[in-house]
Amino acid sequence: MSVTWALPFDQKINPKLNSNRLVSINTYKEIHSQTVKDYKQFWASVASEIDWFKPWEKTLDDSNPPFYKWFVGGELNASYLTVDRHVKSWRKNKVAIIWEGEPVDEKGNPKEVRKLTYYDLYREVNRVAYLLKEKYGLKKGDAIAIYLPMIPELPIFMLAAARIGVVFTVVFSGFSADALANRINDAEAKLLITADGGWRRGKVVDLKGIVDKALEKTPTIKDVIVVRRIGNKVNMVEGRDKYFDEVIKDIPQNVYVEPERMKSEDPLYILYTSGTTGKPKGIVHDIGGYMTLLHATMKWVFDIRDDDIYWCTADIGWVTGHSYIVFGPLMEGATEIMYEGALDYPQPDRWVSIIERYGITILYTSPTAIRSFMKYGDNWVKAHITSTVRLMHSVGEPINPEAWEWLWKLVGREEVPFGSTWWMTETGGILISHLPGLYLVPMKPGTNGPPILGIEPDVINEDGKQVNLEERGYLVIKNPWPGMPLTIYKDPERYVKVYWSRFPGMFYVGDYAVKDKDGYFWILGRADEVIKVAGHRLGTYELESALIEHPAVAEAAVIGVPDPVKGEVPYAFVILRQGYTPNTQLSQEILKTVRDKVGPIATIDKILFVGKLPKTRSGKIMRRVVRAVATRAEVGDITTLEDEASVEEIKKALEEFK
Ligand code: WT7
Repeated sequence: MSVTWALPFDQKINPKLNSNRLVSINTYKEIHSQTVKDYKQFWASVASEIDWFKPWEKTLDDSNPPFYKWFVGGELNASYLTVDRHVKSWRKNKVAIIWEGEPVDEKGNPKEVRKLTYYDLYREVNRVAYLLKEKYGLKKGDAIAIYLPMIPELPIFMLAAARIGVVFTVVFSGFSADALANRINDAEAKLLITADGGWRRGKVVDLKGIVDKALEKTPTIKDVIVVRRIGNKVNMVEGRDKYFDEVIKDIPQNVYVEPERMKSEDPLYILYTSGTTGKPKGIVHDIGGYMTLLHATMKWVFDIRDDDIYWCTADIGWVTGHSYIVFGPLMEGATEIMYEGALDYPQPDRWVSIIERYGITILYTSPTAIRSFMKYGDNWVKAHITSTVRLMHSVGEPINPEAWEWLWKLVGREEVPFGSTWWMTETGGILISHLPGLYLVPMKPGTNGPPILGIEPDVINEDGKQVNLEERGYLVIKNPWPGMPLTIYKDPERYVKVYWSRFPGMFYVGDYAVKDKDGYFWILGRADEVIKVAGHRLGTYELESALIEHPAVAEAAVIGVPDPVKGEVPYAFVILRQGYTPNTQLSQEILKTVRDKVGPIATIDKILFVGKLPKTRSGKIMRRVVRAVATRAEVGDITTLEDEASVEEIKKALEEFK
C-alpha cells in the first residue's frame, strides 16, 4: 500500500513561541540522530534534570533483555517530585489543580469548583499516606486498588500510595464488577478505594453497588474506603467498609510522612490494558525511567510553563490521565484543570466554557471528542472566548485531517502548534510527536510527526526488514527507552512473548504505520485483534469471551468497523445455540451480558446473527475475513477457508441489518 500525503501546512506560528524553535525537518533529523546514537548518555542528561535522593550508578542495565532497568542505583520518590519539591519553592501556594464537578446550576454554571494549591495537595497527600501506613498498616511493596470517579481524591490517593512505596492499580470507573474483580485479584490488592457514586451525564453511576458485587470474589481485599461524592446512602459492610471522611478526620492536618527512598526500578503502578488474547495485561511501570520521560515530554511536547493553564481531558483511569494529569503536570508544577464529567454535558459547549472560564492555554484531547464537537457545529465554539489557547495535542487514535483542521482553525486560529501524540499504556509516555517546546517542524494534518529525541521507532515488514518510505508496515521501537514497562505483572514470559519475540531485539507495538519521505510517522491503527472505540482500547477476545457467557451464544466473532465519530465500533457476529431464534429482545439480553462482564465502555454497536463464521480448517475464526466483508475491503486470500458459504452469511447478515 502506498499513500500520498497532503503538502506540509503553511506554518503560521504562535507569537509566544520562540521563532528560533522553528526548524526544518532536516535540522531536526540531525539533532535527533545524535540523541539516538548516544541514547543512554542523552537520557542520562535528561534524568539529571529531576530531583534524585541518590544519583544512579548505571544509566541502563541491559544485562537481562528485555528486562531493562533504567538509572540503576538511583533513589527517588514520585510523590516527593510532584508535591514536596514545589512546597519548598515559591510554588507552595500556587494552584495545582482546579477541579470542576459535572453538575451545573440553573444558569449553567458549575455547582462545585475546588482549587487545591501545591501546599493543599502536599498536606492531603501526607495525611492520606499516614492513613494508609499507620491505620491500614500498608507497607512498601503492598498493592491497593483504586476505583474512583474523576475527583481530587483520585490523584491524592495515587500520590499517597507512591509516597509510601505502595503499588496502586487504578481501575477506570466504566469497568464492570467482573473486570474490577479480575484486576484486584491479579494485583492481589489489600485495600480498595471507591466512592458512593460518580456523576456522568447528570446520572449517578453506582460505583459502590459494582464494588459490592466485585468483592464477592476478591479474597485479598480486607478493607474498603468509600469517598462521599454524591451523598446518597450506600450499602456499607460492617468491619470492611469505612467512609473516607470518618477515617481521615482524626489525622492531624500537619502530619508529615517521610517519602520512601524508592529505587529507580521499583514499581510505581500497575495498569491493566487489553491485548490480543487472554485476560488484560498488568503493565508495570518503574519510577526513575517513567518520571524522566514525563519530565521530558511535559517540556518538549507541551512546552509547560508556570503561567500556563493546562487541561488534559482524559480520565485518570487510563494511562493518559496517569501520565498527563497526575504525574507529568504536577511534577512540572503546572496549574491544571481536572474535570469530572462529560465534555458535552449539559450542553455541547461545556468543554469550550471550561476553556473560557479558566483561560486554558494548553489543551490535550482526543480525536473522538473533537469529532463529536464538530458534529454539534461551530456556533457552540464561537460563542466562547478560546483565544487563550496557545498549544494543542490529541491522543488515543489516529486523527483524521478534517477533525484536525476543524479544531486548528476554530480554536487554534490557524496558528497554534497542534499535534497528534503517539504512545500507549506500555510506553508510559509520548514517543512520537511534534515538540513545540523544543523544536517545531512543519505540521501536517493527521500526522504524528517525528519521533521525540532519544527514541528510535521504525516501520518494518513481516520479515523484520525496514519497508520503503510511504509503505505500510509494523511499528517497532528499536532501543530501550525510559518509561518502558518493567514487565507484565506476574507474567514475565508473556511480556517477552507479546512484545519482544515477534521481531527479536525490537519492541513490537501492534500498530500499522507509515513513515513518509520527511521521516514523519503516520500511525494507521491496530494491526492485531485490538480495537479502539472512542479511543478506548478493547480486546475483541475479551468481548467474545463475554458474549459466549450468554447461554444462547454458541460462537462469536467481534470486529472493529469504522465509525465517523468513535473511530471504530465493535460489531459482533453471533452463532446461536440450537433452540434459540434471533430477535431484538435476545440481542438486548446479550448486550447486557457484555456490559455486565466488561462494563459500559464495551458497548457493542450491532449484533448480527449468522449460521456460520469463516474459519480455517483447523477451526480458528478468521476475523480478518469478517472484517473485510463488513468494511467492503478486499477479502484477500481465502484458500485456507473451510467453507466459503460463511462469507455469504456475513454479507447477508449485514444486508438484513440495514
Ligand atoms: C493505542 C494505545 C496513548 C495513550 C492513550 C491510548 C493508538 C494512541 C495515537 C495517535 C494514532 C494512536 C494506537 C496505540 N494511538 N495515540 N496519536 N495516533 N494512534 O493508550 O489505550 O494503550 O492505546 O492507541 O493504536 O497502539 P492505549
